[in-house]
Amino acid sequence: MANSKYEYVKSFEVDDEIMLPNTIIVRVHARDFCRFSEVHEFEKPNDKKALELMNECANAVLEQFPDVIFSYGFSDEYSFIFKKETKFYQRRGSKILSLIVSFFSSTYVTKWRAIFPQKDLKCAPSFRARVIFCASMEVLQAYLLWRQYECHTNNQYNTCLWQLIKSGKSKEEAQATLRGSLKQDKNELLYQCFNINYKKDIPEMFRQGTCTLKTEVEDIVKYKDDGFPVKRTRRKVLRVHSENIASKRFWKEKSCLSKEELDQFCDNLNKTRPEYVKSFQYESRLMLSTWIVVRIDGCHFHRFSDIHEFEKPNDAQALNLMNACAVAVLEEFRDVVFAYGVSDEYSFVLKKDSQLYQRCASEIVSSVVSFFSSTYTMRWNEFFPQKEMKHLPYFDGRAVCYPSSEIIKDYLAWRQVDCHINNHYNTCFWLLVKSGKSKSDAQSDLKGTQTPEKNEILDRLTGILNYYSTLPPMFCLGSSVFWDKETKMVDNEEGGATGKSRRILVVGHCNIIETGFWEAHPQILDEKVDRFKSVQMANGKNDLP
Ligand code: GTP
Ligand code: MG
Repeated sequence: MANSKYEYVKSFEVDDEIMLPNTIIVRVHARDFCRFSEVHEFEKPNDKKALELMNECANAVLEQFPDVIFSYGFSDEYSFIFKKETKFYQRRGSKILSLIVSFFSSTYVTKWRAIFPQKDLKCAPSFRARVIFCASMEVLQAYLLWRQYECHTNNQYNTCLWQLIKSGKSKEEAQATLRGSLKQDKNELLYQCFNINYKKDIPEMFRQGTCTLKTEVEDIVKYKDDGFPVKRTRRKVLRVHSENIASKRFWKEKSCLSKEELDQFCDNLNKTRPEYVKSFQYESRLMLSTWIVVRIDGCHFHRFSDIHEFEKPNDAQALNLMNACAVAVLEEFRDVVFAYGVSDEYSFVLKKDSQLYQRCASEIVSSVVSFFSSTYTMRWNEFFPQKEMKHLPYFDGRAVCYPSSEIIKDYLAWRQVDCHINNHYNTCFWLLVKSGKSKSDAQSDLKGTQTPEKNEILDRLTGILNYYSTLPPMFCLGSSVFWDKETKMVDNEEGGATGKSRRILVVGHCNIIETGFWEAHPQILDEKVDRFKSVQMANGKNDLP
């Protein structure tokens, strides 16, 4: 296909391959879980069903992605560990991270009803994720020790806190009672005041977290004539609880974590070195004062659209659903100033001075892709009331920085040119197929054709002059979502009328390649940024006058 003059924008994309011998961990944790758990009235400090739902999602991730071989979760987080030499999407960090968090989010929505049959899912759940690299088994061991230590200390603290609150103390009083208390003090408090034996009475799932891993099981497929069984080994997802998942013994017992996938642990660690914890928390930040684009793209949507019998080449309802999700993203993330979507992809432009998650790439990408995925899954029925969702939709995502508004416009023009080229080709292709040609004949008919020839084919096949121009603009131009001003005339007290304006979200199908659109909407890429303030905010100084 022809290259457009805008293709140069691809050179702003950076490679984020995670080199060997690093073992890859993706840690997923709920975004704004406090609000989500309050809205859904989760029990405190632990809601068994909510944890069960997290475990179910982890199961689904292990079943979906063969290279994820072990996971550990507690509260609102889960860590997924890939086999050592995985080539999953050639080890590209943002791709791996976004696919996992997206699949996890869609699963959370679909499994909700089975686990909470009495509760409606009132808002889209979303998760943040980051990638952690472990250069050696010692580092991986230290990571697991660190997470399980967090699980234990948080759970013990929260168990005490909520017992105190339930006994009549205010939150502040309960916090004050626990300030500076040691592990033994908390156990003592639980036992003396509430007759709770922490180890015996609190379920393992709360105290130790949950491991989900793959193990090999042997199934008897059939019996031979002589009665001898024919066996086949199969990978099965297994759930276990253990006091110390970072111990040499635990790791050795799990044959699935054997040498070829992950090495053995050396010794029992009893402490994680602070420099390791620092490396687990490290996050790379996107360059200041640049437009950030988060581009998401449906994973295997070719198959997804076939399974759900989307109309070819464009299914208006499928595109409307994508647009509804993009609108939801703009409502949720106020730093997104513009979005452009076509087919199974959407690009979200964040304002130049955005400080969302301190511009941490993985946090931004994961939040957007996760929120989009769960919204897509939640709202499917609204757009396809007659169609059952047979496969989970999930998306990959990446963040790219563009330094000027000229370049960001070129980026968007690149996507719109792509939309046009693909749509023109696909419209011809499917009309040829519908006219009785085989797919390969249609392909060879179109090989090397330019715009006028394609238009001729379309006009000939349909008998309509300038057929392409009669297609819905959403198919030819894609969809743009942005905030606009709406002015309404309202009656005033003097008997006249005054204009009142408010911001509204608009879904348009406009030509964004030509300058006219940007001249008509100068507020979208308004570069009036207080540079001093944005730099101060990036340095964590928000208390400026
Ligand atoms: P990956 O993104 O690499 O996982 O592959 P993919 O299968 O998602 O393909 P890609 O993203 O390159 O292209 C999107 C695909 O989604 C198209 O090729 C179509 O097969 C399908 N698709 C998207 N929108 C529609 C639609 O409205 N109707 C139909 N029938 N298919 C669509
Ligand atoms: Mg795709």
